[in-house]
Amino acid sequence: MSRPVRQRKKVFITRAIDPAALMRLCAAAQIFVWDEEMPPPASALLSALAGADAILSMVTDKIDARMIASAPRLRVISNLAVGVDNIDVEAATRAGIAVGHTPGVLTEATADLAFGLLMATARRIAEADRHVRAGKWRTWGPMTMLGRDIHSSTLGLIGFGAIGQAMARRAMGFGMRVLYLKHRSGQRKPRRDAGLAGATGVSLNRLLARSDYVSIHVPLTEKTSRMIGAREFALMKPGAILINTSRGAVVDQAAMVGALKSGRLAGAGLDVTDPEPIAPRDPLLQLDNVVITPHIGSASIAARASMAAIAADNILDVFAGRLPRRCANPQVHLRHPK
Ligand code: GLV
Repeated sequence: MSRPVRQRKKVFITRAIDPAALMRLCAAAQIFVWDEEMPPPASALLSALAGADAILSMVTDKIDARMIASAPRLRVISNLAVGVDNIDVEAATRAGIAVGHTPGVLTEATADLAFGLLMATARRIAEADRHVRAGKWRTWGPMTMLGRDIHSSTLGLIGFGAIGQAMARRAMGFGMRVLYLKHRSGQRKPRRDAGLAGATGVSLNRLLARSDYVSIHVPLTEKTSRMIGAREFALMKPGAILINTSRGAVVDQAAMVGALKSGRLAGAGLDVTDPEPIAPRDPLLQLDNVVITPHIGSASIAARASMAAIAADNILDVFAGRLPRRCANPQVHLRHPK
C-alpha cells in the first residue's frame, strides 16, 4: 500500500547566512539561498514566494502587500533584524503569516557601534585618519584637530528600549549625564535596568535643548518617520552632535544637511541613511564633520551568528505549529499549512 509522500517544506533565504543556522534549516526543509552580493530583485522575490512556506529575509528585502498576496503557502517571514519596517506586518497578519525578528542578541553590538560613532564624531577620528593618509600630518599642533569632550557632557536618548539603555550604560561609564525621552502616557513603559537610576526622563524639547549628543534608538514607524526635522534641529543646543543607528527615515535628511552646514549641528555619526546605500553625490558625503558607516550596527561576528540562529528558530517554530519565539505580530492567527 502506498503512503502519501509528505512534501518537504520550502524555505527561501535571501542571502548567505551563518552556516550553522543554515545546516539546521537544511535538516528540516528544502532550502533555496540567494547567494549573491546584491539582494534578490522584486521579480526574484515574487517568484520565490509563490512556492515558499517560509522566507528568511533581510532589511534590504521589501516585503509588501503585493508580495504577501502572491505567497499562497507562506506561513512565516523571518527577518534577520530587530526592525521589521521592510515588511508590511499588517498585511502579513491579515494573511495569517507570522513575522519573526531577532531582538536581544544584537543589543550590545549595536550600542557599541553607536558609542563608537559618538566617539569618532566628537574626536574627529575618521577626519584625522583622512588627514594622516593625505600626507597632511606635518607636525604636532596646539590647535590641530580639536574635538569635543565626551566625559562630563550630556547624552540625550531618543528611544530608551534595550539598545537605548545599553547606550546609556556606556555613556555613564564615560562620566556622561543621560537624559532620555520620557514615554507618553498610554505608551508601554520600557523595562528599565536598575543601574540606570541616574538617567532622567524628559520631554523631547527639553532633551534637544540640553543634550550635547543626541542618539536615536527608535524603530521606524508612521509615528517616528521624520521625527527629527527642521523644528527639532532648531531646538538643539548649538554645536550638538547627532548619532543615528536606527533607521535613516527617522531623520529629515535635508534638514540635517542644513543644520550641519549652518553649524547648528557640529557633527553627525550615521550608520543609517535614507535611502540606503547613500547616493555617491549626496551632500552628506561632502561634509568632513559626518561619519557614515554602511548599516553595520549588528555586524559583529557573534551577533550575526546569534541572529541567524534565532531567525532559523523562528522558522522551525512555525513548522512545529507554534508562533516564532521572537514574533513581531503575536496577535496573528497562523494560516494552515498547504
Ligand atoms: C538592523 O538594522 C536591525 O533592525 O536589526
